[in-house]
Amino acid sequence: MYKDNPALGTKEAYVPGLTSEYVSKTYGIPIADVAKLGSAENPFGPSPMATEVVMSARKIENYPDWTAGALREKIASKYGYKPEQVICGAGETEIIPWIIRAYSSKGDKILMYVPAFPIYHMVAENEGRVPVFIGMGDDLDFKWDDYIAAIKDDVRIVFLTNPHSPTGRLIPNDQIRKVCRAAKNQLVVLDEAYIHFSKTNGGMELLREFDNLIVMRTFSKVYGLAGLRIGFGISTPEIITPLMHLKPTWNMGALQTAGAVAALDDDAYVKKTVDAIAEMREYVVEQIGKTMQGRYTVVGQPSSNFFMLRIEDPALDSTTLFNELLKRGVIVKDGSVSFIGLGKRYMRIDVSLKKHMDRLLRALSEIQPVR
Ligand SMILES: Cc1ncc(COP(=O)(O)O)c(C=O)c1O
Repeated sequence: MYKDNPALGTKEAYVPGLTSEYVSKTYGIPIADVAKLGSAENPFGPSPMATEVVMSARKIENYPDWTAGALREKIASKYGYKPEQVICGAGETEIIPWIIRAYSSKGDKILMYVPAFPIYHMVAENEGRVPVFIGMGDDLDFKWDDYIAAIKDDVRIVFLTNPHSPTGRLIPNDQIRKVCRAAKNQLVVLDEAYIHFSKTNGGMELLREFDNLIVMRTFSKVYGLAGLRIGFGISTPEIITPLMHLKPTWNMGALQTAGAVAALDDDAYVKKTVDAIAEMREYVVEQIGKTMQGRYTVVGQPSSNFFMLRIEDPALDSTTLFNELLKRGVIVKDGSVSFIGLGKRYMRIDVSLKKHMDRLLRALSEIQPVR
């Protein structure tokens, strides 16, 4: 069957970040010491308000409200929109295919930067759409003239990630406006999975200016609920309605919905996480800049809960560094495995607790290229 669609025949559907359990067992490192810096999760664990609600939920013998109505209402009122402007899914990763199916047809083009979150191009390919990849600059900077020039008539969907993954670079709202204006016949998908870590409000307010925009957010990152699987999209009712038809009817379990509703009130937890990550980001970027010159460089000015490390020493490549870090109990993302178009010089590394940042820094300074 898959021969009809070669994209479905590729060996691995997705390459996930490694688990702490695997690294602890393989290298004999106590699990609490493993620095899990590859999946951009919350190192402080889940939002306590969400945990409490999920743990005490008992009413699971009935089917949930298929629309996740309580969560749609909560999200709408938090951001000043209407419930019919919101759609919820088991993470953004579930919603992205609905958007691609609803707003493009087989053979249509879908625009994205390369590198970007791999799900965009994987879903596009799986659904028989054609990703158009716009390369980033030498310092993995955005190429906005190229990006905007590529919004041609046969492009149907334009992806933006803010802050961008894997670079952590922030896109100012004025730049997003330029893309929305250029996308006269396209839908702009603004993925704000990591927006809290930038300490900006992001592009949610742009929904009042543009009707060709959908903003996506997740509970997997700042709220620490990656295992519960909740994300949402917010746009005009006209854009959301077709997505509600594509949504599998009971995709949102009662626990997901209840946990997410509670998490949205956990402002203290969000603040604590964002402040701690910002402080540690400053620390690790400064340490790398001060002590590892000529060996490693942090790309740009990261605004997320991860940063991109460039390996400057030609005798060391990202896969060797990845494996050497693993032996020292540090899990990161090897750019050459987790993203297309990056080559062998980049790692995406999460910002985490101080003890994990110190383990990373120690490991990076220990590892010597074989000459
Ligand atoms: C840019 C980006 N968007 C979305 C997601 C996925 O979010 P979710 O867990 O809501 O599917 C990720 C996950 O790593 C991501 O990096």
